[in-house]
Amino acid sequence: MSDPVIKTTDLTKEYHLGDNVVRALRGVSIDIAPGEFVAIMGQSGSGKSTMMNLLGGLDTPTSGSYFLEGIDVSSLSADELAQTRNRKIGFVFQSFNLLARTSALENVQLPLLYSPTPKAERLKRAEQVLTDVGLAERMDHHPSQLSGGQQQRVAIARALVNRPALILADEPTGALDTRTGLEIMAIFQGLNRSGMTVVIVTHEPEVARFAGHTIRFQDGLVVDQQRIAEPADAAALLATEPARKEVAA
Ligand SMILES: Nc1ncnc2c1ncn2[C@@H]1O[C@H](COP(=O)(O)OP(=O)(O)O)[C@@H](O)[C@H]1O
Ligand SMILES: [Mg+2]
Repeated sequence: MSDPVIKTTDLTKEYHLGDNVVRALRGVSIDIAPGEFVAIMGQSGSGKSTMMNLLGGLDTPTSGSYFLEGIDVSSLSADELAQTRNRKIGFVFQSFNLLARTSALENVQLPLLYSPTPKAERLKRAEQVLTDVGLAERMDHHPSQLSGGQQQRVAIARALVNRPALILADEPTGALDTRTGLEIMAIFQGLNRSGMTVVIVTHEPEVARFAGHTIRFQDGLVVDQQRIAEPADAAALLATEPARKEVAA
């Protein structure tokens, strides 16, 4: 069997606020295999975002270990960690996090600015991933000229442009209506079918049903894990649902 993409052992995270200690994670051990589609679930405050920040190397644990594709993340220098993060992980956030006064095409190229990729190649790759997420006709638009769903597609294209091994998405459909959320889940499922490991955070079972592996958090602990042989198919659902009627503004 191949190495896990993610392996954590007894991961803890404490936040210190004055005399108060918040134990956001209290010993989390998970394994995520290459090609899995994982939904991290749980109520608000259960530690999901804290976990994602650790998995993404955006924050460091209080104790415990984290191996990313066999690399002990705690052994990396700040520079090495930044490089590893940039090469191996694509991030997607609830609020898209796009640069406002910048076109979709430029937003998507941003992660490549830190790599030695030549300018022409940067452009080509950005155009390709934007086309892959269905935005070939919108590349010159700024975020304010795009719908929420289109902005999230730009963010997904930006996450893909470095060809990462892993996509981490924290509540990626949280700011979107149901059908648009379904469209975003169809994109993630398509990426996952082409071999990408995808980890999303969601508190909605409606969103988690598209994942093949669910991990439920409660009070900083994993309280349930399930592997689902046949998760729901977002693209198939979209195809059978009648198209949304235009709602008057
Ligand atoms: N930067 C921080 N400083 C202090 N406490 C935090 C911080 N981030 C999160 N917490 C606390 O840690 C717990 C878990 O939060 P979080 O990981 O954001 O949960 P979730 O994403 O599941 O809503 C909560 O009690 C939250 O208030
Ligand atoms: Mg959160």
